Amino acid sequence: MSTDNVAVIGGGLMGHGIAQVAAMSGQEVTLIDVSEAALTKARQKMADSLGRLAEKGRLQGRPEDVLGRISTTTNLADGVHNVDCVIEAVFEDINLKQLILGEVDAHAPGHAILATNTSGLSITVIAEVTRRQENVIGMHWMNPPQLMRLVELVRGKHTSDETLQATLGLCHKYGKETVIAERDVWFFLAARARMGWTLECALMYLRGEAGVREIDAAGKHKVGLPMGEFELADFLGAVDIRTDGLKSAEQILKGHPDFEPWPGLLEAYRQVVAGLWGPMKEKGLSGIKTGKGFYDYPGGKYIKPEIPRELAEKVHPLQLLAPGLNSAAWCVSNGVGSIADINKALRLAYGWPKGIFEFLGEYDIKDVLATLKAKEAKSTGLLREFYRPDPLLVNWKT
Ligand SMILES: NC(=O)c1ccc[n+]([C@@H]2O[C@H](COP(=O)([O-])OP(=O)(O)OC[C@H]3O[C@@H](n4cnc5c(N)ncnc54)[C@H](O)[C@@H]3O)[C@@H](O)[C@H]2O)c1
Repeated sequence: MSTDNVAVIGGGLMGHGIAQVAAMSGQEVTLIDVSEAALTKARQKMADSLGRLAEKGRLQGRPEDVLGRISTTTNLADGVHNVDCVIEAVFEDINLKQLILGEVDAHAPGHAILATNTSGLSITVIAEVTRRQENVIGMHWMNPPQLMRLVELVRGKHTSDETLQATLGLCHKYGKETVIAERDVWFFLAARARMGWTLECALMYLRGEAGVREIDAAGKHKVGLPMGEFELADFLGAVDIRTDGLKSAEQILKGHPDFEPWPGLLEAYRQVVAGLWGPMKEKGLSGIKTGKGFYDYPGGKYIKPEIPRELAEKVHPLQLLAPGLNSAAWCVSNGVGSIADINKALRLAYGWPKGIFEFLGEYDIKDVLATLKAKEAKSTGLLREFYRPDPLLVNWKT
């Protein structure tokens, strides 16, 4: 399968970065958006970014040559008619993504690969509207695409081996490392493996076991993460994304219950949206962009929150790592991905100092299991399943 000519649909935050990476690799790229203004802004951002890379000596060739390989259009049919691969990066909305893929399917050559940069919607459901479900694949880039080294590829139910291999080749041409989510489940591999950690930070806070700064201090100073979980959420505007993400997931789950096969994770997520992320979104506490989230950002300007080392004593790292290991283990036990890919994803996508399974060299598996069992015993209903130790951990041999 050839992947020489590429079209990127959606020239926003992610799309302009993806188009730039493709052009930097020598490809001819068409960037498509409904909005002329978005395309003008995208061109400016690409020129700025290429200029910065050139100044640092990190660009092969001249910025104007790279930009010269990128054409822009608001006409989707024209933009995709002779390409080998389309990378869709429009808003995270299942109806919009289906609409776009349907249109692309009607106008792109029969052999073209249709990749979607969705961060959490079902690849299988997005592919359903096309007549080439075997050519549809998840291509989950990290933000910003120009700088982040990892791309996660996601197999939909009908994605063919050829499509996966060709897209892997494309990522390597772009100089990216890859991990593969072999199953199309909610959050795929990278974010799902880490979801136990994310949710437990919120659940501990909701249960009143520790404060925001204490939980973040443990993450930063004891585990060595670049940012605490709440600090990161503010940075990304995650309370909005995650609250909206649950709405999309609930819509998909109505027709495709296997998109979330772990009732414990769904229950934990629902509880956190109901108790924390949803109300924060309602009150406009969305992080840096609204001036206040878990921390304060007067005037909407980024100030690194103060998270002193002294606060790190309240939360033992295993309180957070054990549920994190449990969600990572679930992914391995249920065929979503490998231990090696999970470790790689946490390092490259989230800046963890080491992969989550590597912490099993630092902490005793018996203590991990005891932590999970204690949390399970204290919980009720479906939340117990979130903490029930995964068989991979139960049978872990050090
Ligand atoms: N922002 C992130 O950190 C991040 C990371 C990974 C993946 N993603 C995913 O990437 C996708 C894009 O996110 P973003 O942050 O770049 O969004 P964005 O809002 O910055 O950009 C979306 C672009 O899509 C365009 N668009 C909307 N409807 C269109 C249509 N019908 N045809 C063509 N273009 C259209 C908009 O004009 C806009 O320029 C989403 O699926 C998101 O979940 C985002």
